[in-house]
Amino acid sequence: MHRCFSRRDLLIAGSAGAGAVAVAACGGGADVPELTGVGSGDVVVPLSEVPAGGAYEVSIDGRRVVVSRPTEDTAVAFAARCTHQGCTVRATEEGLVCPCHGSVFDLGDGSALHGPATGPLTPVGVAVRGTDVVLT
Ligand code: FES
Repeated sequence: MHRCFSRRDLLIAGSAGAGAVAVAACGGGADVPELTGVGSGDVVVPLSEVPAGGAYEVSIDGRRVVVSRPTEDTAVAFAARCTHQGCTVRATEEGLVCPCHGSVFDLGDGSALHGPATGPLTPVGVAVRGTDVVLT
């Protein structure tokens, strides 16, 4: 396991000239909205916050999730745990990308488009209800 660094730790580690490798392996942190104690029917994010053709990152009960919006009116979500070696997948302009070894996952179905990962991301049940994306 790698230790994840806070922004302050990064500054300290950077000034000491160390930590870059471990930081690159973390791929996440508390830099996304955090939801706790949510369940079926609860709002994850307003649909308008998720870019069409893009994705939104959130933490649900400590688990990183990417909510993507493959079309204007649809949303799907996946656990942001890379199926290669478990790094946190991020929403980027190139799609759902793992920062560790460069795997890329499909925004619509979570399938691996580019390895080394071969398995799809684990789905998280969400649906569009009115103007919101909710847990199912
Ligand atoms: S852990 Fe994601 S590509 Fe290796």
